[in-house]
Amino acid sequence: MKGDERVVKKLDELLCDELTAIMQYVVHAEMCANWGYQRLHQAVEMRARQEMHHAEKLISRILFLEGTPTVSKLNQVHIGADVPQQLQADLESEQQAVRMYNEAIHLADEASDAATRDLLESIVKDEDGHVDWLEEQFDQMAQLGVPLYLSTQTRA
Ligand SMILES: [Fe+2]
Ligand SMILES: [Fe+2]
Repeated sequence: MKGDERVVKKLDELLCDELTAIMQYVVHAEMCANWGYQRLHQAVEMRARQEMHHAEKLISRILFLEGTPTVSKLNQVHIGADVPQQLQADLESEQQAVRMYNEAIHLADEASDAATRDLLESIVKDEDGHVDWLEEQFDQMAQLGVPLYLSTQTRA
């Protein structure tokens, strides 16, 4: 089915953001594993896998709307040098994702594309959950202090 061009373009932009997030999170997850923070490693790796599912859903929808998914471009990847910097960079990525998905939902509404809207709504709920998890980590770091917080992250 031929989709609204603006919607297809927006889905392609979202795809680029998802692919960028996957790369950022995979690097962060592996850095955490390298430092022995197994619990963080698992949590961040799981988030990267969820972004992969989002990318798959976006690709599927773009193809259905007769667009061509762009998978050869990434936005700027922000790698943190330590855990707090990683979590800060990831929080910014997730906050941007929530903004972008909400904009896209608005556009899908304008184009009367309810099925795309449904898909975007299901994804933005996951992104909300990612923001929530990251904010919890900052709460814990503030309450425990960074060294004690990190000491809770060594076991999966
Ligand atoms: Fe995502
Ligand atoms: Fe996310």
